[in-house]
Amino acid sequence: VRGGAFPVASSSSPSPPAPPGQSMFKTLRTTPVEGMKPGTSGLRKKVKVVRDGLYLHNFVQALFDSLPPHEKEGATMVVSGDGRHYNREAIQIIIEIAAANGVGRLWIGKGGIMSTPAVSAVIREREGGTAMGGIILTASHNPGGPEEDFGIKYNMQNGEPALESFTDAVYAATLSIEEIKILANAPKVDLDVLGVTRVGEMVVEVIDPVQDYLGVLKDAFDFEALRKFIARPGGFKLVFDAMHGVAAPYAQVVLGKELGCPPSTFLHASSKEDFGGLHPDPNLAYASDLVKVMGLLPSGAPDPSMVEDKDVPDLGAAADGDADRNMILGKRFFVTPSDSLALIAANADAIPFFREQGGLRTVARSMPTSQAVDQVARAKGLTCVETPTGWKYFGNLMDARALGSAQDYVPILCGEESFGTGSNHVREKDGMWAVLAWLSILASHNPNPEAPLKPISAIVQEHWAIYGRNYYCRYDYETVDSDAANAMMAHLREPDFKPGPVLDGFVLAEVDDFSYSDPVDGRQAVKQGVRLLFEDGSRAVFRLSGTGSSGATIRMYLERYEADVSKQGMTSSEALKPLADFAIKLAKLEHYTGRRAPTVIT
Ligand code: G6P
Ligand code: ZN
Repeated sequence: VRGGAFPVASSSSPSPPAPPGQSMFKTLRTTPVEGMKPGTSGLRKKVKVVRDGLYLHNFVQALFDSLPPHEKEGATMVVSGDGRHYNREAIQIIIEIAAANGVGRLWIGKGGIMSTPAVSAVIREREGGTAMGGIILTASHNPGGPEEDFGIKYNMQNGEPALESFTDAVYAATLSIEEIKILANAPKVDLDVLGVTRVGEMVVEVIDPVQDYLGVLKDAFDFEALRKFIARPGGFKLVFDAMHGVAAPYAQVVLGKELGCPPSTFLHASSKEDFGGLHPDPNLAYASDLVKVMGLLPSGAPDPSMVEDKDVPDLGAAADGDADRNMILGKRFFVTPSDSLALIAANADAIPFFREQGGLRTVARSMPTSQAVDQVARAKGLTCVETPTGWKYFGNLMDARALGSAQDYVPILCGEESFGTGSNHVREKDGMWAVLAWLSILASHNPNPEAPLKPISAIVQEHWAIYGRNYYCRYDYETVDSDAANAMMAHLREPDFKPGPVLDGFVLAEVDDFSYSDPVDGRQAVKQGVRLLFEDGSRAVFRLSGTGSSGATIRMYLERYEADVSKQGMTSSEALKPLADFAIKLAKLEHYTGRRAPTVIT
């Protein structure tokens, strides 16, 4: 077991009565609030809901009640968020509850902010991995502001999001909660000044949110080589879109200060509580300013009205609100997250983290992610694992070195269609890691600094020529009535929804509901999404989103494999339209939901 307790006396017992104005431990009576069940990635609710009465207090106390004593009493914990509206107020409340629950020390990023991968890095690395866990205040890529979303999630001692067994326990605790332990009249901690404040018997340290994380990235990549590449005389231009999220300060340090990118690199480069009104999700629909700068249409196709190719940057990247997601664009070229994963796998030796550990050995993707990476794994003899949606399912694989056929799992590359990529340098997906991975790939394909740059489009097309192309896209139907969405899923799960129909040239070979047995500890996950598998290897997958805050979102994922180079030049919407129409018909989507078109296509 790493870490250990920070030596501050633990106490959750009532202190002697304090004089007026001084802080004192108090117990607040409360009653359970329905609906606090955490989703795919923590609890997400409208700010209005979270700030109402004792809502946040209830959830946070339930969380502390669910932690074993040694993980809280006298322990060090991290608390930080993506800086969205209500972040600062929530941190103050958590400070007061943590102090009364006997926490020894809190590490809080300056300004109350830390990106999700940076929290993971701080838990794992700071003071040799002293922290016992961390509370992350984020609703990730959901919009922020008084009318929008807030979120809270817990990461464990290895820096990984809490397992379902833990979040289930927290949920159960929210349903029987009766009291909240709180330090009343706690001093307000100045989150904007680095330093130490005593809050009751707890110590609060406001720390640099970037430093530990930067150390991890420096171990994983060759910063010197990247700096040289960025300054190459043959020319190179990067644009990074922080989407007014928490990525902004990280980009300024990593890309600006460390790698020498000029100020013109940065788009939406200040963190804002409401993300400047943007929907901070790095995809073709929501990162529309970046998409335009990169010479693309929202469909991902090149913008024909943009003739001056030379003005278009060579690499465009965006991150979401908490900076764990990423989107990668080349000059007038969209790299799907699934292709990004496959390309990083194929070029893993360009990344010191993989190279120096004897090369990449294992890749893992979530089920709806395209099988492009499977092609690379097959060709290179890598272990390839298909997991349910949710980064947490990669955690066991990342830590598997101590178990069984251990070595197979180290080092590992993981990715999801939902714009998540990363490895076991931390235990979260990591937007900045993906940008540095792509810079490394570009550098390795461009060994001559004087020569004109070989663009990302050429690198990806060469990849397709070798491994084949997996045409891919996702249709989202947002804010669908929950009953309607459930009815449609139930229809797909009906036992008489049998394979066999040959229609519009499609032959349905098999239908299943994805289930997963964790290869490390045998844990089961069932009903993870209905897969329609076609005879030619194409797939259509249906599942309901686990990250929304109201209503249901139906996701339909489409994939078609094309090995023939002469047929790899279509747009994905052209290539996948017939499959989409067929899948929608089979699912009776319009019948159940009344929707004739998706809200977003990514
Ligand atoms: C979060 C998780 C990802 C997951 C995604 C799925 O971003 O961190 O690991 O892929 O949610 O979201 P969905 O809305 O499809 O459940
Ligand atoms: Zn996120």
